[in-house]
Order: sequence, then structure tokens, then C-alpha cells
Amino acid sequence: MDNELILVIDFGGQYNQLIARRVREHNIYCEVISYKTPVEEIKERNPKGIIFTGGPNSVYLGDAPRMPKEIFEIGVPILGICYGIHFMVYGLGGIIGKANENAAAEFGRTDCEFDLSCPVFEGLKEKSVVWMSHNDYIEKLPEGFKAAGHSDKCPFAAIADDTRKFYGVQFHPEVNHTEEGKGMLGNFLYKVCGCKGDWTMSNYAKTAIAQIREKVGSGKVLLALSGGVDSSVACALLSKAVGDQLTCVFVDHGFMRKNEGDEVEAAFRDWNVNFVRVDASDRFIGKLEGVSDPETKRKTIGEEFIRVFEEEAKKIGKVDYLVQGTIYPDVIESGLGDAAVIKSHHNVGGLPDCVDFKEIIEPLRLLFKDEVRKLGTELGLADYLVWRQPFPGPGLAIRIMGEITREKLAILQDADLIFREEIAAAGLDRSINQYFAVLTNMRSVGVMGDDRTYDYALALRGVTTTDFMTADFARIPYEVLEKVSVRVVNEVKHINRVVYDVTSKPPATIEFE
Ligand code: XMP
Repeated sequence: MDNELILVIDFGGQYNQLIARRVREHNIYCEVISYKTPVEEIKERNPKGIIFTGGPNSVYLGDAPRMPKEIFEIGVPILGICYGIHFMVYGLGGIIGKANENAAAEFGRTDCEFDLSCPVFEGLKEKSVVWMSHNDYIEKLPEGFKAAGHSDKCPFAAIADDTRKFYGVQFHPEVNHTEEGKGMLGNFLYKVCGCKGDWTMSNYAKTAIAQIREKVGSGKVLLALSGGVDSSVACALLSKAVGDQLTCVFVDHGFMRKNEGDEVEAAFRDWNVNFVRVDASDRFIGKLEGVSDPETKRKTIGEEFIRVFEEEAKKIGKVDYLVQGTIYPDVIESGLGDAAVIKSHHNVGGLPDCVDFKEIIEPLRLLFKDEVRKLGTELGLADYLVWRQPFPGPGLAIRIMGEITREKLAILQDADLIFREEIAAAGLDRSINQYFAVLTNMRSVGVMGDDRTYDYALALRGVTTTDFMTADFARIPYEVLEKVSVRVVNEVKHINRVVYDVTSKPPATIEFE
């Protein structure tokens, strides 16, 4: 890739990925790198600008993350955010004050006033709300700096050194609560760093396709297609690049949502790929007979998935490249080391060791999820694949609590479809990040007509979340829940009660098992 580059230097802030996404939303490519990266390496990458993230430390503490002073000497504009502004001030000879009762600690919504002659604030509102979160404060500016914004308690809410093109903000421009945050970042990127904005998904697609072609040559490529967004988009991209040198293996374990296996197949039928759908539902259901423990279910499905995949791979013969749908947040999480551990059990079994291939291709490893979606649309994938909500590898097997039977699977598929239809009809399908039905193993007494029933309770779950590590329950309007409930008990046999889960994560998880 030969794009303009912004480097986001991570000092351990909780918003490092968000900053990177905001930069990308301005059509500028950026990468998050550790503050431990050698300055020489940073220089060689020739960035148009650098952003220092926030972080939980105080700069004057011995173990606070710091970079060598040479970072200020490479002649590239820098924007420091929160801890980043403190590090900049401290590193250039200013003084950072320690929080105490008198210090100007600020948290949350804060009114600020800006100097509009500063290029970062040019054309924006003079007074606006920003999102603060700091204990430490700037006591004295380094030479060459001036104040460019202030709040009631904070005389240096924004600072500027126009000569060296160093800017800093005490607040977080990347969060939505900062009214003019988007404009401020845009100004820094375009007016200060002089970016043109060459990061678009159509450019990306063109370059990626050319690179894949060059790498693969006349080799054979194998891709495990789950029907999820990432593997579908990877499939579309590879198909454009190498056509029928690609074989997609879609292992249908039988725990897909209603009609889903057919939909995935239909979506790729007309693409120029070898598409193999393996209907392995009997095998999987057989393996799970009598199993009710969630972890055993996961493990069994994971292992069986690998067996089936291996068998198919053997039929294809020698493969040169294996495609994986790794996306950028995975790269950041594993690369920087300090961030949360990726949930290892969350990938169906990983991929088999004994498939013999030369190299792995990860065509999405530079992209955030929203970019993967844009790329999918750019490549002509159907909306329902591009906007598919996340679906766990083990599928409905972990949404049928306890032992699985074919009858229970059919009940859940029907009920889940009704829930999805009503959420879509209410126009909520893109605002609720994940929503699904769970067949509980609780039965309760009901009355239908004049008869007593003793049937299953269905639980509905809907969550809003950005990273799926924490989540809140979605505030689905009662009228929508009512429609779902009425339809489910009328249309699906053996369900006589519907409940809605109002627990956040933590303490609950998103899935029930
Ligand atoms: P939990 O239940 O851990 O789920 O809060 C967080 C996100 O991960 C998905 N999930 C899985 N995905 N294999 C997967 O590929 C799994 O075994 C698995 N378990 C949970 C879940 O749907 C949610 O999006």
C-alpha cells in the first residue's frame, strides 16, 4: 500500500482504536503503533503526521511510557491527546502538575472556548462542548507554545506551536461527546499535515486485488467460508483477484439460522469461485447427542469442524495459499501486547495444522470492521451478507440450552426468524448490534384455548456494543417485543412464554452458553 500515513502512537489509552477509526473516517490511512517503536523506524515510514494517544499514567511517574526526545525532531506535525499532550509538554520542557484538591481535574462534559486562528480549530464553533478525562494538568507551557483553548478550570485545554506544527488537546476529540471533535481531527489531518485523503475502499480494492494476483500467480487458494462478514468479504476479494483458482469450503454444521446455509450458497453461486458446501449436519448432531455442557459443545463442534475441513482440503489436493479473515482490531490487540486478550475459544477450532500450504493470505488485516463492510459493498456483495450481525462459530448449538435435539433446533430456528423479521420491520436491524433468540431448557405452565400447556420459554436477547467485550441490553420498544411474543407463541409450537433479557455484559455474557 502506498497511501498517506498517519501514525497513532499508543500510550495505553482506552481510545487508541477509536482514534485510528476516526482518522480512517477522514479517508486517511493510519496505524496504531506502540510508544516503544524506535524513532528511526517511525521516520523511515515517512508519516504525514503523528498522534499521541491518551493513557492512564502520569508523566512524572518513573514507569510512565515515554519516547526519546528525537520523536520531536523528525519534522512531522504532532497532535497530543490527553496523556499525549502531557507527554508532549513534559518532553519539550514544560511542567505538568499533579492532581490535588486545587488542581484542575475535569471529567466528562466540559464547555470550552477556542482560538479560531489556530488551524486545528479554524472554521469550527468558538465555544463548544468537549469530553474531558484528566487528573493531571499543564502548569507551564514549553517554549514556543501558546494556549489555543481553555475551559473554566483549565487554561490550557488546547495548545499550539504553529512553527513546529505541534498541537495538543487536553480532551478527547475522538469521542462523539466532543461536539467539534471530528472537525478538529479533520483540520489537523488536512490543514496541518496536508493530507489529501487517498484512503478509500475502491482504491483499497484495486490495490489489494493487484497485490494478491501478483503473489498468488497461478497457485491454488483455499478459504474456509463461514458466511460471516469477514470471510464473505475475503471471498469476494479473492474471487475478483484469482477467480477459479480459489476454492471456498463452507462447512454447514446444521446449526445455522433458518435458511442461512442456502442464503450463503446462493450469494456465492454466481461468483467465479469453486464453492463447496459440505452438509455435515448429521455428523454434528450425532456428535452432540447427549451433550449438554456448553464447553463440551464448543469443543466438540470445533474439533469436528476441523475434521470436515481437512477431509475437504484433501480432496482439493495441494493448496498453495490459505486465506484468513483477520481484521485490524485483531492485529492491534495481539501486536501491542498490553490490550485485552483475544477470546481464543471464539474461533471455530482455528484451522488445521495438517493442511499443507505455503503461506497465509490475510487480505483484511489492515481494515476495521466498518471498512470491511464498505469493501464488501464496493465489491458487490449483497447487503444481507455485508450487514450480517456476528454469529458464533458453534451457531445455534450454544443457543439451545442443554441437550440439543432436531426438534429443539427447528423450534429455535422458527422463533429466531420471527424475532429477526420484526426487528428488521421496526428498522432496528442496524442499530442493535446483535439480537437473537435462545431456547431455554425451562418449561412452564401456560393456557392456550382452554387447555393447559407445559412448554418451553424462549428468551430474546438484544445488545448494543462497540467491541462485544462489554455490552448493554438494547432498549427494544415494548410494542416490538409484544409483536414478537404474540407471533412466536401463535406460530411456533412448543413455546408458550417469551422473556426479554435485560442484563448487561458484564456481569452476563452476550450468549447464554
Ligand atoms: P460472549 O457470549 O462471550 O460473546 O459475550 C461475545 C461475542 O462473541 C460471540 N461468540 C462466539 N463467536 N465462536 C465465535 O465465533 C464462539 O464460540 C463464540 N461465543 C461467543 C458472540 O456471539 C458475541 O458476538
